[in-house]
Amino acid sequence: MPERTPILAANWKMNKTIEETERFLADFLPKVPESGPEVVICPPFLSLKTAVEHSAQSRARVAAQNMHEEAEGAFTGEVSAPMLLEVGVDGVILGHSERRQYFGESDEALARKVPAALRAGLEPILCVGENESQRDSDETEGVLTRQIEADLSEVPDDRLGEVVIAYEPIWAIGTGRVATPDQAQEAIAFVRALVADRDREQAERARILYGGSVKPDNAAELLALPDVDGALVGGASLEVDDFVAIVEAARP
Ligand code: PGA
Repeated sequence: MPERTPILAANWKMNKTIEETERFLADFLPKVPESGPEVVICPPFLSLKTAVEHSAQSRARVAAQNMHEEAEGAFTGEVSAPMLLEVGVDGVILGHSERRQYFGESDEALARKVPAALRAGLEPILCVGENESQRDSDETEGVLTRQIEADLSEVPDDRLGEVVIAYEPIWAIGTGRVATPDQAQEAIAFVRALVADRDREQAERARILYGGSVKPDNAAELLALPDVDGALVGGASLEVDDFVAIVEAARP
């Protein structure tokens, strides 16, 4: 079975100016462990260049929070993969539930965005997950199946393992209500099985993260689960000490 290096990704959402990004990284980067999990900082577009420059001498990588699938064109307000690559970004979050919920991000668009990111050489971090009423009515597996099948439909089988997937139950995002270890393990093993339906070997390679109210005091338990290969962290990634503690919790 392939070793999967855990990823701890900081999803800053619409937080931190360029100056705040500089201040955070000046404090945070010296505290990143020299070995162990991969660390990815995902700031707003305007701070990407600054984040890339500051982390150049560190193990931390930088990813964007969204992109358009076309390289250029009449798409007001959008940013493309070549633009991200030019500033040295090496990954992109796609399909975060806030984008699905507030900005109409659809599975059809994601079916184009995920392979476009891969073709451009950006590591996609694809977010999936059910909302509270879907969980309460036992629709979690149906929702995950629909999202994974649609969003990965145009990714060639032999590249499936390059897509990082973040299972983020919407009811756990920003609520302080974290999934139980059983819920996280079960959903993530289910997502891995969906990828295995396409290609078993790629499913063993694919890193699948948990996201939703990950904090220093619950990280170790979640990160120790057999199918959980890291975390996508929102609120707790905005404070240096909290995010350092979460990164430390992922070390063997
Ligand atoms: P949270 O956000 O850690 O603040 O719950 C996670 C996310 O939305 O990626």
